Amino acid sequence: MLKIAVCVSGGGTNLQAIIDSIKSGRLENVEIVRVISNNPNAYALERARNEGIDAVCVSPKSFSTRDEFNSALLDSLNEAKPDLVVLAGFLVVIPKNVIEAYRGRIINIHPSLIPSFCGTGYYGLKVHEAALQRGVKITGATVHYVDEGTDTGPIIMQKAVEVKEGDTPEILQRRVMEQAEWIILPESIGLIAKETEKK
Ligand code: GAR
Repeated sequence: MLKIAVCVSGGGTNLQAIIDSIKSGRLENVEIVRVISNNPNAYALERARNEGIDAVCVSPKSFSTRDEFNSALLDSLNEAKPDLVVLAGFLVVIPKNVIEAYRGRIINIHPSLIPSFCGTGYYGLKVHEAALQRGVKITGATVHYVDEGTDTGPIIMQKAVEVKEGDTPEILQRRVMEQAEWIILPESIGLIAKETEKK
């Protein structure tokens, strides 16, 4: 059984996609042991609690220094003892202490085809705004391992999505989620679960 901790900041539709894949049996031998949000108001926390999943908030606002927050984040992960940390719309730069403790065991979903529209400042809707501004005809999503850089780690899976005439950032974001993110994030976790079983 691959135990995963899922880190979230907002709506949690990617978290829901993982939950639904586990419930439907498409994603086997995977258990969500904890959901962590930096944002106390994230709807993702409610999604987790609705499913009886342990859900906690670790907010930078509750700590006087960034180092204290970084330690609390690591403590919260360590308590849950995950085999894999999944960043599903977690809009916090992962601190060094967490990367070192979970090297090669953190994955992230990014809403573009890396290396396009990624790196510092590219998150959420901003990614789709930039893609529309550049006029690309194809965009998509990427699941990758997390290293010290921003969106620089090895790529696990990508899926392309068409940009259509008249798209707004919101419409494009929704299509990228439906046609790419909600598919490749559970699939990537499944791939890692299978590889872990073989070891
Ligand atoms: C998703 O589109 C995810 O790819 C993006 O935030 C959204 C979270 O939505 N992540 C990034 O931009 C990371 N750089 P969700 O909370 O509904 O899953």
